[in-house]
Amino acid sequence: MERNIYSGTSDYMVSEDLRNAVNISIALGRPLLIKGEPGTGKTMLARSIALGLDMPFIIWNIKSTTKAQEGLYVYDTVQRLYDSQFGDRDVSDIKQYIRPGKVGEAFNSEKQVVLLIDEIDKADLEFPNDLLWELDVMNFFIPETGETISAKHRPAVVITSNAEKELPDAFLRRCIFHYISFPDEEMMESIVRVHYPNLESNLLAGALKAFYWVRSLPGLLKKPSTSELLDWVQALTVGGIHPDRIMSELPFLGVILKKNQDFEQVLRRIHSPGGLQRQAGLTGSRKYV
Ligand SMILES: Nc1ncnc2c1ncn2[C@@H]1O[C@H](COP(=O)(O)OP(=O)(O)O)[C@@H](O)[C@H]1O
Ligand SMILES: [Mg+2]
Repeated sequence: MERNIYSGTSDYMVSEDLRNAVNISIALGRPLLIKGEPGTGKTMLARSIALGLDMPFIIWNIKSTTKAQEGLYVYDTVQRLYDSQFGDRDVSDIKQYIRPGKVGEAFNSEKQVVLLIDEIDKADLEFPNDLLWELDVMNFFIPETGETISAKHRPAVVITSNAEKELPDAFLRRCIFHYISFPDEEMMESIVRVHYPNLESNLLAGALKAFYWVRSLPGLLKKPSTSELLDWVQALTVGGIHPDRIMSELPFLGVILKKNQDFEQVLRRIHSPGGLQRQAGLTGSRKYV
């Protein structure tokens, strides 16, 4: 039992609430539904659970065209047709053309796995409901072969969704829900430190201050997220940028802002006399680029 308690991993910062949600979901055998804006560590959490509990990790990336059925199994009729015309295989044995999907793989595994259903909100509205039954009873029937596939071990299911989209009530009822809010500066500092333990403190402090200033600007089309901050501190380091220049010049701004309008808004503010300089708490001698 002890083995099945998730307590975090050295590469992932986890709050106590989130850790509890993970453990409750595993103990109750219910999917853990994680919502939060992009970059809040939803995908990474599932990886960390697998690592922390030493369980194999199966990722099902959901696209707009993904159907629930594909997660169970796919019947490869094209191969069968091909074999019936050109091959020497016995095509009446349909079993050989049944390929497990990600849920099927998770059910078949000899070891309990972590099954990540990533970005469920990308699929159509029916998708979550279509999966409910199988995830509840942990088995499914394959009519083509008359087989029932039952989970050898109930997978720890982690489902992620971006914040905007609502999911069906029936689905929500069955999940343990946790919302990861965007990390505050202190938490973010720890997250960056996990990735870059040797980062110079002044550079990190400068980058954090500038990053949160940019995020606080009204009307941004796309707020920069954790991934962008991680890339940015790397760019600042590689570029040999002195920490004093970060807030006043915002070097490599394109690493954190990906929309023209956002970029221009920030540039306007940098060049407006005094505006950003005051934000940076700098003296009048600072030179702008
Ligand atoms: N709590 C955290 N601890 C360590 N790294 C994190 C954390 N949250 C986010 N990250 C890092 O931020 C980036 C984005 O995380 P990701 O899991 O892809 O976010 P999401 O799936 O929510 O969009 C990754 O590089 C990840 O390592
Ligand atoms: Mg993700």
